[in-house]
Amino acid sequence: MIEVRNVWKEYGEQVVLERLDLKIEKGEFCSMVGASGCGKSTFLRLLLGQERVTRGEILLDGKALPGEPDADRGVVFQRYSVFDHLTVMRNVLLGLELPRARWTGRLFGQRRRSAQDEAVTMLDKVGLGSSLDKYPHQLSGGMQQRLAIAQALIMKPRVLLLDEPFGALDPGIRKDMHELLLNLWRESSLTIFMVTHDLKEGFALGSRVLVFDKVRVDPQAPNAYGARITYNIPLDHSRDCPPALRMAQAAVEGASRAAAVAA
Ligand SMILES: Nc1ncnc2c1ncn2[C@@H]1O[C@H](COP(=O)(O)OP(=O)(O)O)[C@@H](O)[C@H]1O
Ligand SMILES: [Mg+2]
Repeated sequence: MIEVRNVWKEYGEQVVLERLDLKIEKGEFCSMVGASGCGKSTFLRLLLGQERVTRGEILLDGKALPGEPDADRGVVFQRYSVFDHLTVMRNVLLGLELPRARWTGRLFGQRRRSAQDEAVTMLDKVGLGSSLDKYPHQLSGGMQQRLAIAQALIMKPRVLLLDEPFGALDPGIRKDMHELLLNLWRESSLTIFMVTHDLKEGFALGSRVLVFDKVRVDPQAPNAYGARITYNIPLDHSRDCPPALRMAQAAVEGASRAAAVAA
């Protein structure tokens, strides 16, 4: 479904990503880990179409990725992307209203009712069915992230991009969110890319773990080389994979040490 061919991303003199090659099937759940600053969010923005590759190409179903974000790809960031001045319900309805009612900004009659039904169904799924009229500031952090996920999923994207979506949440709430996300993933044909700084989370959720790491480091020129995908680990969840986990752990720790030396 997604093919990344020899992709490079540079910001001015700084090479952030280099020589990325990747093939992802529809329905995969890719966890992405790596030292802070190695370009994981940048890679997500490339997939989203928010940034252009410097070299190489990204194909979606064999065709060049659209140069702008569209409904095919939904995104959830670590910090809430919801609108503070809109209720839970309106935050989710908004996505359905905007593209279909460009002139009025609102839907009417039957279309309005069916959009509302869709929104309520989605909010029920993420456990916000009894908070429809609340405003984001009246929700806990976990609930706000549920809302952000509902907002992304109501558009029925084929690809869901998650940038440390649970990073700001308490461990207990995170576990609930893991279950929610896995359920949503299993019941759909969604393809997911999720950045996490928590290796265990990456391994627990992903059907594949991608480790980003700078292989080449020149202390004299810290910006000369970018990160690559150094490990691409398919997971078989019917078995534990402690060796793979240890391997990834070593890679991430090694990358952090290298970054500290370079700094
Ligand atoms: N828009 C931008 N302009 C210039 N440099 C950027 C931009 N976005 C990211 N970078 C740089 O790219 C590198 C990778 O950043 P990022 O993708 O956010 O890393 P990560 O998500 O892995 O922590 C960092 O050095 C960052 O400063
Ligand atoms: Mg990031």
